Amino acid sequence: MTSHPEHLPVLLTEAVASLDVKPNGLYVDGTFGRGGHARAVLSELSAQGQLLGLDKDPAAIAAGEALATEDSRFSIEQCSFAELATPINARLWQGKVDGILLDIGVSSPQIDVAERGFSFQKDGPLDMRMNPDVGISAAQWLAKAEMADIEAVIKTLGEERYGKRIARAIVETREHTPITTTKQLAALVDKASPSREKNKHPATRTFQAIRIYINNELEDLKAGLEQALDVLAVGGRLAVISFHSLEDRIVKRYFRDQALGDDYPSDFPIRAADLNPRVRLIGKAIKAGKAELAVNPRARSAVLRVVEKLA
Ligand SMILES: C[S@@+](CC[C@H](N)C(=O)[O-])C[C@H]1O[C@@H](n2cnc3c(N)ncnc32)[C@H](O)[C@@H]1O
Repeated sequence: MTSHPEHLPVLLTEAVASLDVKPNGLYVDGTFGRGGHARAVLSELSAQGQLLGLDKDPAAIAAGEALATEDSRFSIEQCSFAELATPINARLWQGKVDGILLDIGVSSPQIDVAERGFSFQKDGPLDMRMNPDVGISAAQWLAKAEMADIEAVIKTLGEERYGKRIARAIVETREHTPITTTKQLAALVDKASPSREKNKHPATRTFQAIRIYINNELEDLKAGLEQALDVLAVGGRLAVISFHSLEDRIVKRYFRDQALGDDYPSDFPIRAADLNPRVRLIGKAIKAGKAELAVNPRARSAVLRVVEKLA
């Protein structure tokens, strides 16, 4: 493997401030990555506070294990945040967690290390799994999937209008040549795309779609949001940073529904106070400011949303 470039945490100050860290509290970073947010949370904890990190990615886990040997307040587990209740229950933290951060999506090292197969700009095996030990790679999926399924994934998860042409090109190509590398897929998408968006490689949307599909990202997010609210203490905070409109829509709707409370018909005679809202929204959606964008273009599409558990 090549060296692991570092990850610049996005909305670091805003995300950690939004958790309103209690020095003796119990915290969870559901997407440890390289620990940028985790270290900032640890810096606000006393010797009694604790932070659990989670990640799917073995390289992130290795970085977390190194941190855990330096700081006994920190521990790390390899799992999806969609299953965060399991390590929480094992620690008897159920209903006691003061704050959870999910900074979803990919980390810079995942993109920058060609061997992970996430990048259309670097040639590597077409893998794209956050945990390469689980599930099937992008290449394995593209080798077997029905054309209609490939089209549906590229259209819905990539919001790619040329999904049909791209899916057809994939199926035609694989009949004579297996599609096994990132550059091969990028070139094929490029050729199948009749027009170009300014400053955007034509394969951007297709790579994003396949990555989201292979890693079950939207389903994980939905499950992760529910489990996070379940394990939080009353008064605990959940902060989510998303990088994509599909993800942000899920977070925004879930938070809004939980803040509205029970779902009655609009003409049902019930007072707002009796709807049992589960959370209150903390502020509005937060985006990166000019200063952060100047040093970290990856922050461009980041959106932070925060809720506090009421009951
Ligand atoms: C944007 S990075 C997080 C960076 C981190 N906040 C930091 O400061 O270094 C996203 C991380 O979440 C991990 N990840 C993505 N989906 C996950 C999931 N469902 N469960 C656990 N980890 C996940 C990825 O492997 C990646 O390391």
